[in-house]
Amino acid sequence: MPHIETNAIHEGIEIDNTFNSVTTPIYTSSTFTLTDLGKTKAGFNYTRSGNPTRKALEDNLALLENGKMAAATSSGMSAIMAVLSLLSAGDHLIAPLDIYGGTYRLFSLIAPKFGIEVSFLQNPNDLAELKAELKPNTKMLWIESPSNPLLKLTDIKAVCNESKSEKNDLIIVADNTFMSPYFQNPLDLGCDIIIHSTTKYINGHSDLVGGIVICKTEELGEKIAQIVNCMGLAESPFDAWLALRGVKTLSIRMQAHEKNALQVCEFLNNHEAVQKVYYPGLSSPEQFELAKQQMRGFGGMLSFELKPEKYDINVFFSKLKYFKLAVSLGGVESLIAQPWSMSHASMNEEARLKAGITPNLIRLSVGIENVDDLIADLDSAFQNCCC
Ligand SMILES: Cc1ncc(COP(=O)(O)O)c(C=O)c1O
Repeated sequence: MPHIETNAIHEGIEIDNTFNSVTTPIYTSSTFTLTDLGKTKAGFNYTRSGNPTRKALEDNLALLENGKMAAATSSGMSAIMAVLSLLSAGDHLIAPLDIYGGTYRLFSLIAPKFGIEVSFLQNPNDLAELKAELKPNTKMLWIESPSNPLLKLTDIKAVCNESKSEKNDLIIVADNTFMSPYFQNPLDLGCDIIIHSTTKYINGHSDLVGGIVICKTEELGEKIAQIVNCMGLAESPFDAWLALRGVKTLSIRMQAHEKNALQVCEFLNNHEAVQKVYYPGLSSPEQFELAKQQMRGFGGMLSFELKPEKYDINVFFSKLKYFKLAVSLGGVESLIAQPWSMSHASMNEEARLKAGITPNLIRLSVGIENVDDLIADLDSAFQNCCC
């Protein structure tokens, strides 16, 4: 079996049979001529339901995640909406409290409008808490590991085994955006579905918004394809092409992100302005063991708490040159954010504090610039933001 570096470049990418082009052409056509009534060439008749450029991306990512079928969507949120639409009124969904703020907003504000009941877990690794939440109508369990923004790891295998032993028809979904298939494959750990915001590491250049749903079985894949078609959630051919171009360099980008993040993490851990650093696997020996078991690396995301009484967070942000104050993550450029007022502002204050998100928590998406320049940038901003 070829390795991920090779598969990322070659899998799902068929030779274009018109001109033998090496890269996948962008088929912008909204519709495709039928060869006969009811007959299509290669299964495509309308771009909302299927498109050759999008299919290349779907086949490629399905293989990288060891899934059977994938559907590329217009955003990470539309991928999550497609998965949520597998549920019906009266069904129950369990999700952790410490998740991406937009996912929390969808689950807490929109899902109940469709009659879906949602419970949030304080600690997804607490199997007793999880079991206590499993009810006869529980149909779906959501996992985000590492979590956004506190980078906590969920023991995916243990959670899948334990919850499936209680309810074997449970659909377990993992948001694998932070790790990408380069570092983690949740379908191999017992999940049924994976979603990614391809806006992030998959594309890697901060120039598209997209998502993908990858299913372990064809049965689930067909259901998702039907939902994406019915609800009009599919990704545009141009954006699918951009994502496909991004995947080709996923491996080298992820290596570079991680190499830089480890050094930034070490610098922050030793800096007197920093109260606490959150990096996947580093919060405790158990989390470190878990990281080694279920991931092939630690990734490029980290968070830290600035000592609030001594340093002014606004001044700190304003003194940075390379870390741009912006939401999103996973691009080649370094970004910095305050989850409290940015990615997680849609959670009410109580929920944010309960999840451990404070105003002095800062999240970094460490890019692939020269790490000495990144550390010098942070160091000079710390020096210039004392209260
Ligand atoms: C972990 C995670 N999942 C899902 C999303 C939603 O993706 P999108 O912004 O592409 O809709 C995000 C966005 O930041 C995210 O961080």
